[in-house]
Amino acid sequence: MNPLAKKLNRDIKASNSIVYDILSKKGREMFYPSHGILAQAAEAKGKKINATIGIALEENGEILCLDSISSNVNLPKNEVFNYVPSYGKINLRKKWQELIFKKNPSLKGEKISLPVVTNAITHGLSMCGYLFLNKGDEVIIPSPFWGNYRFIFDNAYGSKIVNFPIFDSGRFNVEGLKKILNKRGRKKVLLLNFPNNPTGYTPLEEDIPKIVKTIKTAAQNGKKIVVLIDDAYFGLIYENNVYKESIFSELCKVHKNVLAVKIDGVTKEDYAWGLRVGFVSYGIKSGNDKLYSALADKTGGAVRGNISNAPNISQSLVLSSFKDSKYNSQKAKKYAILKKRANKVKQILKKHPEYRDEFEALPFNSGYFMCIVLKNHDPEKIRNILLDKYDTGTIAFPGLLRVAFSATPYNLLEELFENIYHACKKN
Ligand SMILES: Cc1ncc(COP(=O)(O)O)c(C=O)c1O
Repeated sequence: MNPLAKKLNRDIKASNSIVYDILSKKGREMFYPSHGILAQAAEAKGKKINATIGIALEENGEILCLDSISSNVNLPKNEVFNYVPSYGKINLRKKWQELIFKKNPSLKGEKISLPVVTNAITHGLSMCGYLFLNKGDEVIIPSPFWGNYRFIFDNAYGSKIVNFPIFDSGRFNVEGLKKILNKRGRKKVLLLNFPNNPTGYTPLEEDIPKIVKTIKTAAQNGKKIVVLIDDAYFGLIYENNVYKESIFSELCKVHKNVLAVKIDGVTKEDYAWGLRVGFVSYGIKSGNDKLYSALADKTGGAVRGNISNAPNISQSLVLSSFKDSKYNSQKAKKYAILKKRANKVKQILKKHPEYRDEFEALPFNSGYFMCIVLKNHDPEKIRNILLDKYDTGTIAFPGLLRVAFSATPYNLLEELFENIYHACKKN
């Protein structure tokens, strides 16, 4: 094993040996290659002649680039064309951490890691797979779930997704979680995604302590748990009694056997899907700087060996948006659009009790989507009928149709549900 990896592992073990236990084999071997090219380039910074770094400079030392690219971008060339560290731009990492604290007031007083930038959330999840999953490890995910988790974890790292139904009598299925978490085996990898894709559900405020207690009790009974918290849709909560923070706030202080990993980004919550800016942050009870820095080094190393670094231009754009005085008001306006649509869907369903002959909505209160369970039809069949005869696109899940109100203008929502109803009733 590389001496740098050994050093990180020593730091991790010295702070919390459970974290070392739950790393994958690859995760244990990972380190940030701070010696070698990166270190040599850093040492040469500011020298009159710096023949280290693998970018090209003009004769006057400015970034060498093509006008046909730079003329389309209103940012300094250095913030577009130059490389950024594999961990991400330091100012962006600090800003995102500050925002995490601001958006999650009950984190106050806790110590969490500095976020590491990833090429959006999918990539962040994949890096977690790299660091925490060995072949054959189970990943517990409430069902239904975003299908790409199979690709990200099972296909890439040989893990095995196991699931339990997300709902029990219309609420989050705490008992289901308890049962599956307490099955045989010490190491547990749990993935929680609220607001959820595809259901558009976030547990109620009163259910969060039950979920946290379930995880805490399992930890007290000796389970070593990594909770991957996919916060893709963070903040898009439309009802009052729904939990508004990330469950990371609670899980990062729950027990020394529980490592909370927050995977989030601008993709959905800041409506910047194509920019590809995500973050991975760590929190654990009594976590200290040494532990967090070692985990960030392993994550940065995994990024370095995978995509080298996430795009500078995207990170620069996002950072400048966060600093813009209009950022909050702009974000609030876009949130209001989605909330209005979610409320409209609720109204439509209420106004049409006849719909219930054909489909029933699953509970939803947040995010981009809602789901309906079809009573008499195969979702894939109805999806095709909707496409062919009703000019309407939806997504078929096993037993469900997923409807993205995020992408449906307010004035077309009535028609959308009428179409689904008729596609079911007439076929
Ligand atoms: C639950 C969930 N996580 C992650 C992602 C992917 O996010 P990104 O585009 O940032 O990779 C999605 C996208 O659909 C999602 O629904």
